[in-house]
Amino acid sequence: MTAKKKGRYNVAIIGLGRIASILEDDPLRSKPCTHAGAFATHPKTRIIAGCDVNPERTTAFGKRWGVKKLYSDYRQMLAREKPDIVSVATWTESHSKIVVDCAEAGVKGIYCEKPIAVNLKQAREMIKACERNGVAMVVGHERRWDRRHQALKAALAAGEIGELRSMTGYMLTGTWPKLSRRIYGGGPVFHDGTHLVDLFRFFAGDAAFVTAVEDRPHGSACVENTVTGIIEFKNGARGLLIAGGERRYFHFELDIQTDKARAVMTNHIAELYVAKTSKFYTGFTELERAEFPTPGNDVNAFVGGVSDLISQMETGAPPLSSGHDGYKALEIITALYRSAGKGGARVKLPL
Ligand SMILES: NC(=O)c1ccc[n+]([C@@H]2O[C@H](COP(=O)([O-])OP(=O)(O)OC[C@H]3O[C@@H](n4cnc5c(N)ncnc54)[C@H](O)[C@@H]3O)[C@@H](O)[C@H]2O)c1
Repeated sequence: MTAKKKGRYNVAIIGLGRIASILEDDPLRSKPCTHAGAFATHPKTRIIAGCDVNPERTTAFGKRWGVKKLYSDYRQMLAREKPDIVSVATWTESHSKIVVDCAEAGVKGIYCEKPIAVNLKQAREMIKACERNGVAMVVGHERRWDRRHQALKAALAAGEIGELRSMTGYMLTGTWPKLSRRIYGGGPVFHDGTHLVDLFRFFAGDAAFVTAVEDRPHGSACVENTVTGIIEFKNGARGLLIAGGERRYFHFELDIQTDKARAVMTNHIAELYVAKTSKFYTGFTELERAEFPTPGNDVNAFVGGVSDLISQMETGAPPLSSGHDGYKALEIITALYRSAGKGGARVKLPL
């Protein structure tokens, strides 16, 4: 497919909430930090339409981005506007139906928010619909396009910081409300923990086994409050994931340990420590602060996602965060729940 008018792809966004648009007006965040922000920045895209079931959201979106074609029914929007690219930034429980409808309607590229879907069956249907119709799709685990994560992955691949041994991930948040697990998919490990699970896979590859314990105060039909899991990867590395509620703060942290270094990354911090002869204990080797690997690019993570989607549309090159990657993250999370439901039994992957 070739780019249309002015070398640009026409974009429509479905679900005009926080990640689609609203967060762009947070004065503290570095920009762009939304789908609309990324599409407005990327030289090959322009936003032509938006859709939300909430009319206040469509009006605010129209004003904010100068978009006149506003809809409350996405099927009508797809039929009338025939967009090249669609962002699906609605609540996770509607991703599957909307992505399948977009793929069947002739859209060429879909940027679907994470988690890909609320269960694996829905995720498979989305991937199949995209394959059947030759549609490119990225899943919004945007930390994969974060230049610091890419620099660290490149340093690992080049053998500069040793061999991966273990990873610890924290996704700590407030207590979760009583919500149906069937409808909403999950709680903290599902909603935000999906970024951590996905980064574990980004660095370590596919998982072989998981074991987990959980805290599910409203019973098995409702979403969890906490999950603590161990993920064993095929390459021998292990991941410890601590996700969940009862904290009075939000904290996202990935701590990667190799045989001779350690990297710690939060949303704002990127630190590297390397093994050096101890300054405090004779005969010991300890970790000492060093310079974090230099990123090879200066691309914003959201814009990187859009570029990757366009490159898949134009060349067929697999994106950094594909539908398959979204599926595999959900599969690990599903396995964590399954293990916890069986009192911490070791669950083999793939499911
Ligand atoms: N990548 C990230 O870092 C990140 C951050 C926040 C949210 N998300 C994901 O993005 C999605 C949206 O989250 P949010 O925080 O922006 O939620 P939100 O509630 O702010 O926005 C979602 C919007 O979708 C609309 N909507 C729901 N169903 C619709 C439908 N069928 N047709 C049209 N509009 C519909 C709602 O009215 C709402 O305005 C979720 O899947 C969430 O997990 C990702």
